[in-house]
Amino acid sequence: MHFTASLAAAVGFTAIDHVLAKPFPAPADNLRPITQIELGPRPYYLVDNMDDGPLKSKLESCQNMKMRPSSFSIAHRGGGPLQFPEHSKESNLAGARMGAGILECDVAFTKDLELVCRHSQCDLHTTTNIVNIPELNAKCSTPFQAAANGKPANAKCCTSDITLAEFKSLCGKMDGFNASATTPEDYLHGTLSWRTDLYSTCGTTLSLKEHIAMTKALGLQFTPELKTPQVTMPFHGNYTQQDYAQQFIDTFKKAGIPPSRVWPQSFLYDDLLYWLKAEPQFAKQAMYLDENADVAGIQAATHNLTRYKADGIKIVAPPLSYLVSSQDGKIVPSEYAKRANTLGLKIITWSLERSGPIAGVHANGDYYYSSIQDVVKKDGDIYNLVDVLARQVGVLGMFSDWSATVTYYANCFGLGV
Ligand SMILES: *[C@@H]1O[C@H](CO)[C@@H](O)[C@H](O)[C@H]1NC(C)=O
Ligand SMILES: *[C@@H]1O[C@H](CO)[C@@H](O)[C@H](O)[C@H]1NC(C)=O
Ligand SMILES: *[C@@H]1O[C@H](CO)[C@@H](O)[C@H](O)[C@H]1NC(C)=O
Repeated sequence: MHFTASLAAAVGFTAIDHVLAKPFPAPADNLRPITQIELGPRPYYLVDNMDDGPLKSKLESCQNMKMRPSSFSIAHRGGGPLQFPEHSKESNLAGARMGAGILECDVAFTKDLELVCRHSQCDLHTTTNIVNIPELNAKCSTPFQAAANGKPANAKCCTSDITLAEFKSLCGKMDGFNASATTPEDYLHGTLSWRTDLYSTCGTTLSLKEHIAMTKALGLQFTPELKTPQVTMPFHGNYTQQDYAQQFIDTFKKAGIPPSRVWPQSFLYDDLLYWLKAEPQFAKQAMYLDENADVAGIQAATHNLTRYKADGIKIVAPPLSYLVSSQDGKIVPSEYAKRANTLGLKIITWSLERSGPIAGVHANGDYYYSSIQDVVKKDGDIYNLVDVLARQVGVLGMFSDWSATVTYYANCFGLGV
């Protein structure tokens, strides 16, 4: 069944209802490297919004520059999830168009042990239309339950609940849900007000193989993340964590991708140790995603860096907030950042453009700006943060939900282009 937009509008369908209509074609193989990088208005808006000073002047001086893709600009969840359904083909094409040099696929496994791109093994109920497809909803770990008697609506749907073919039949949508929903259809609505449903019209879901084919055709680099399983391993009796970590690397080998173009990630330290032993070539650019400070505090996380270095880890990838602190009204490198640099660990960080209007980060307790809340007041301050991370902390690259923001800075300062 296929609705045109005008027919859908005429019969009262919204963009999300349109998600019911079935998928757009699978990823086209006629993709080519993008030569006309387009950043749209956002970076220019951010520069205009900055306080006067040398950084603003420098960034203004790049306004008419011909922009090129940069490996400093890492596409988080495809690079477009500020406006496009995360991990969809459309988000990746937006990220590539905005000059991301490295495209991300967060990897989870399906019931038939195929690898697919999803931020979490169990987020299908908030990132796709699964609960609104009765036969697939029935397969969910927790099928949709309507809000009732003061209890919120609930669902939990995992990639491991369904097959690859079933996953491919889903429509990607903007992440979110309606806790008051009494129907599956209502549950799909929950996009944050500063994002948009404009492109939430049935995002094309991707397998890792498709993501690799697409990224290869675009001439870009890869950053796959081995997502921590949400089911007990071994899965299906004999599919172990190591089988999963190996299958992940093998998918790149089978596609003929050299390790120098792949930046594997994991939050599980044992995955890093496994790759160092079993896949040393791929481990050279592997990053340990460090969120240890969230529970143990920043001092413990900083202390741990010595061990990572000794174990052979090359890159640590903490959230933005671990790398900076505030001093005398300014953003400065944190002790964590200094320690990583002293040890010779390389640093990549995540994720810019997930926080909405900066004026709200203090009130809403935003995670990414938590260590510098008192010195960021407005959207233009985003580039103060990027600048400290790039030129004082010396990060290799930065994940962003809107690649243009990082690409602009990277081109202006000649990073990764
Ligand atoms: C959320 O669900 C409730 C109950 O089904 C519905 O009345 C409301 O309109 C929904 N909100 C949105 C934004 O769809
Ligand atoms: C795991 O078990 C399945 C079915 O029992 C079997 O087909 C498969 O070969 C086993 N795999 C390994 C690696 O032992
Ligand atoms: C890092 O530090 C945290 C907190 O002290 C600890 O729980 C964790 O096991 C450490 N990780 C490694 C790999 O040493």
